[in-house]
Amino acid sequence: MGALNGHKNGVASKPNGAPAKQLIPVADRLEEGRALAQDVWSVFNAANLPADCINLGQGYMNFAPPQWITDAASEALTTVVANHYSHPKGRMRLREAIKSYYSPIFGRELDVESEILVTSGANEGQYAMFTAFINPGDEVIMFEPFFDQYLPSVVFHGGKCVYVPLHPDLSKPKLTSDDWHIDFDELRAAITPRTKMIILNTPHNPIGKVFSREELLKIAGLAEEFNLIVQSDEVYDTLVFDGKEHVRFATLPGMWERTVTVESAGKMFSATGWRIGWLIGPSWLISPTLAATTRIVFCSNSPMQEAVAAGLEQCEKHKFVQTQCAEYVERRAILADAFDRLGVRYTLPEGSYFMLLDISKLTWPEDYPFPASVENRGRDFKACWFIAMEIGVSSIPVSEFYCKEHVGIGEHYARFAFCKDVDTLKRAAERLMGLKKYMKP
Ligand SMILES: Cc1ncc(COP(=O)(O)O)c(C=O)c1O
Repeated sequence: MGALNGHKNGVASKPNGAPAKQLIPVADRLEEGRALAQDVWSVFNAANLPADCINLGQGYMNFAPPQWITDAASEALTTVVANHYSHPKGRMRLREAIKSYYSPIFGRELDVESEILVTSGANEGQYAMFTAFINPGDEVIMFEPFFDQYLPSVVFHGGKCVYVPLHPDLSKPKLTSDDWHIDFDELRAAITPRTKMIILNTPHNPIGKVFSREELLKIAGLAEEFNLIVQSDEVYDTLVFDGKEHVRFATLPGMWERTVTVESAGKMFSATGWRIGWLIGPSWLISPTLAATTRIVFCSNSPMQEAVAAGLEQCEKHKFVQTQCAEYVERRAILADAFDRLGVRYTLPEGSYFMLLDISKLTWPEDYPFPASVENRGRDFKACWFIAMEIGVSSIPVSEFYCKEHVGIGEHYARFAFCKDVDTLKRAAERLMGLKKYMKP
C-alpha cells in the first residue's frame, strides 16, 4: 500500500498552476493565527492519501443523520418561509425547541429572546463571542490539546492565547481520559490582569475527557476570583459513556452569570455540514454576541434550523440520545479492542468520539520517504503519515493541537475518530494489526 509496498507517496500540495502574483500583502493576522500554514486537515486530506485509505482522521461521520430529521429538512425546503432569511437570533421554532430541551437541564426557564442564540455551527458562535468580547491584548486561556479553531479565532481579534496543558498520568499502563489532569498551580499562574476569558471543552476533543465536578468547581472558583468569562464548549455533551456525569459548567454555583454554553447540531445529529449550532447564556453575554453574529453571517441556514428543531422536539420520543450513545460505545469498543490486541497504550475516552493512540513506540525505516509537509513537523506527523501509507488508516497528529512550546507533549499521540459505521471500524481494526511489526517492545 505505501512506499514499502511500492506505492508512490502522495504529494501534500498539488498546485493547479502557477500561484497568482501577490499584488498586495495579506493582513498580518492570517500569519499570526496560523491561517496560512498548511493545516493538518489539508496534509491528511484524502486527496494526499492512498485511495483506499480508511478515514479515521477528520471527525465527521460516514453515516447520515436519522431519517426523521432529514425528512424534516426535506419538508422545510418545500415551505416558502424556511427558504428565506431567519431572524439573526435564529428561527423561533428552533429557539423554542432549545428552550424546551435545555430549560430542565439548566434548571431555569430559558428566555428565547435574550438567552439563546442560533449560530452557523458552534464555530461561528464561538467566533462571534470573541468578536463581541476580545480587545487587542486580551488574554484567553485554553487547555491543551485544544480544538484548533480556537487559536485563529482568538488571534484574529488581537487576542492572546494562553495555554495550559492537560497532563497524562504516564505511570499507568492503561489510561482513561480521566487520567489527564489539570495542574491547578499552572492554571492559576496562567491568569494575568489581561485574562478575560477561559475556554473549557467538556467532553473534550481530542482526549475524550469529561471534566469532573471537582475540577469544574476549582475552575469556577478561579473564574469568580479573577472575574473571567467562561466559554464552555460542550458540543459533545450527548456523547458521554460509562455512566460518567456530564456536569454543565453554567449550572455550578454562580456560574450561569459568566458562562456561555456552546452546542452543535453537527455533533448531536450527525449533521456536521448543516452548520447549525447554538449558544446559551445570560443576556449580557448573548446580546453583544448577537450583534457580532448579525454582522458576520446575519443569520444561519434556515431550512436546516427547522430540521434541527424537529430533532430536538422528537429526541425523547425516539430515545435518540440513549440509542446513539449505545452505538458509540460499540464503535469505541472496536477500536479499543484493536489497540488492546496491538498491545499499545491508548486513552480510553469517556466522552466524544476520539481516541488517542500512544505512538511513541512506533518505528519506521530511516530512509522512509516523507513529503515536505510532514518532514518538518512533529514526530506524530511522520507517524500518522506512515500509518496512513503503510496500513491504510488515516489519523490526525495531536501536536497540531498544542502551542509551539508544548509540541513535545502532543507528539506522542495520534487521534483516531470513531464516528464511523461498525463495518468501517472493523476493517480499520484489522488493518491496524499490521502496526505490530513496527512497534518497539
Ligand atoms: C471541541 C469542538 N468545538 C467546536 C467544534 C465546532 O463545531 P461545529 O461543527 O458545530 O462548528 C468542534 C468541531 O469539531 C469541536 O470539536
